Amino acid sequence: MSASGPRLQPTIFELSKPGRGGGKVPHPPSDALDRIPPEQRREKPPGLPELAEPEVVRHFVNLSQLNHAVDTGFYPLGSCTMKWNPKVNEWAARLPGFAGLHPLAPDSTAQGTLQLLWELEQILLRITGMDAVTLQPAAGAHGELTGILMIRAYHEARGDMARTEVLVPDSAHGTNPATATMAGLRTVSLLHEHDGGVNVEAFRRALGPQTAAIMITNPSTLGIFETEIGELLEAVHEAGALAYMDGANLNAILGRFKPGEAGFDVMHINTHKTFSTPHGGGGPGAGPVAVNDRLAPYLPAPRVLREADGTFRLERPGERPTSIGRMRSFVGSTGVLVRAYAYLRTHGASGLAEITDDAVLAANYLKHRLAESGAFDIPFEGVCKHEFIASASTLKKRTGVRTLDIAKRLLDHGFHAPTVYFPLTVDEAMLIEPTETESLETLDAFADALIAIAREAETEPEIVKTAPHTAPVRRLDEAGAARNPNLRWRPAVGDWTPCPD
Ligand SMILES: Cc1ncc(COP(=O)(O)O)c(C=O)c1O
Repeated sequence: MSASGPRLQPTIFELSKPGRGGGKVPHPPSDALDRIPPEQRREKPPGLPELAEPEVVRHFVNLSQLNHAVDTGFYPLGSCTMKWNPKVNEWAARLPGFAGLHPLAPDSTAQGTLQLLWELEQILLRITGMDAVTLQPAAGAHGELTGILMIRAYHEARGDMARTEVLVPDSAHGTNPATATMAGLRTVSLLHEHDGGVNVEAFRRALGPQTAAIMITNPSTLGIFETEIGELLEAVHEAGALAYMDGANLNAILGRFKPGEAGFDVMHINTHKTFSTPHGGGGPGAGPVAVNDRLAPYLPAPRVLREADGTFRLERPGERPTSIGRMRSFVGSTGVLVRAYAYLRTHGASGLAEITDDAVLAANYLKHRLAESGAFDIPFEGVCKHEFIASASTLKKRTGVRTLDIAKRLLDHGFHAPTVYFPLTVDEAMLIEPTETESLETLDAFADALIAIAREAETEPEIVKTAPHTAPVRRLDEAGAARNPNLRWRPAVGDWTPCPD
């Protein structure tokens, strides 16, 4: 980070002053150096920064506040479910029995963790209406790959090698077609209906002996619950194909809709969204995959098993030869899974249904406020699930202000932007997801800010187009940042490099 802009700071190495320090480290014994063999001694002291403790703490706390975070403000990032992450989950994940367990510890010394994982599987089965689950995948996209690889293994086990196509609606998240390709299959993308829903007839027509699977996101990435797919799922099975449900939007259906009972064969769950693990900065996730009996034989190994005497163990190598194998090291992102377990146990079944109801209510409230204001286009009318689409298409034609400008201007109002330009099927899209954890006052303040920006676009468009004006950095060249990333620190003055590259 360069040392420019009022809230940016010099690096800790630049702040360093020779001889300064915390001074609280006990002095080493006088013969300490003699105890280190000469050939293992440093010739020069390491180039560590020298500062007093408060300077270090302030430096890092200030840095931590340069980014918007759900701990500092509203984060309505559609499709990402940036809900509040209760701090008690962090406490649970840091308990030494979980955090300090060696991943290769024998089962007999890992009973607590194995029991937690097994119980988490049971809870996820009740939520999804499926028959078996793997906790191994590291994220939603990884869960998709796991699911589609199992579908491929299922067809191959039946000697049905002609099934090479995966049918996906055009509103799907990019990871769906990417998954099909990575699994060695071909994606057939199908146009959506005018109301944003899956075009059931188009799917029916595309089904055939070449279809391996359909992938449907329910509720869809447009925030619409697909009510018309019951018969489609039957047709899929009649055609010999299987149905994958992208469960990234599970927050909208907890306790209200069980994909397994509706006829889906397999789905993934983004625990880091629905079950409250901090995410967004590329940190660890977990994408458990739940399947029905058809696919259970192909689940990744090792599974967590409960023995007749109530103890737990991991499957042994080769114990289930039909498995697609290991998808991740050890048993998965255990820390994330502990957080999910803590969250699920805190809420219980009735609490989970309330989460969904509140998330849906919050999204519909915001949608209604924006629709009523007339500030933006609301392409899909009616009740939405936990997220909805607003579009700046008409505003852009009138004022030249684009969705990207609105996203940047929101930062000046203290809000993170919604997801922008996704799904690709809507011009100048903003996908807004408030989640259940925000108060009425926050929802109103966000709606007021969006409406104020739309009014400003009419009267002073340049202010919106040049936003943000109060963030640590001004408008960045995003294409340039992606193609020529500037990742290496350089000194502000001179060429002295205090920290090694
Ligand atoms: C609908 C949908 N599917 C799949 C994914 C992929 O999930 P992950 O980011 O955990 O890989 C996302 C992520 O935003 C999503 O919104």
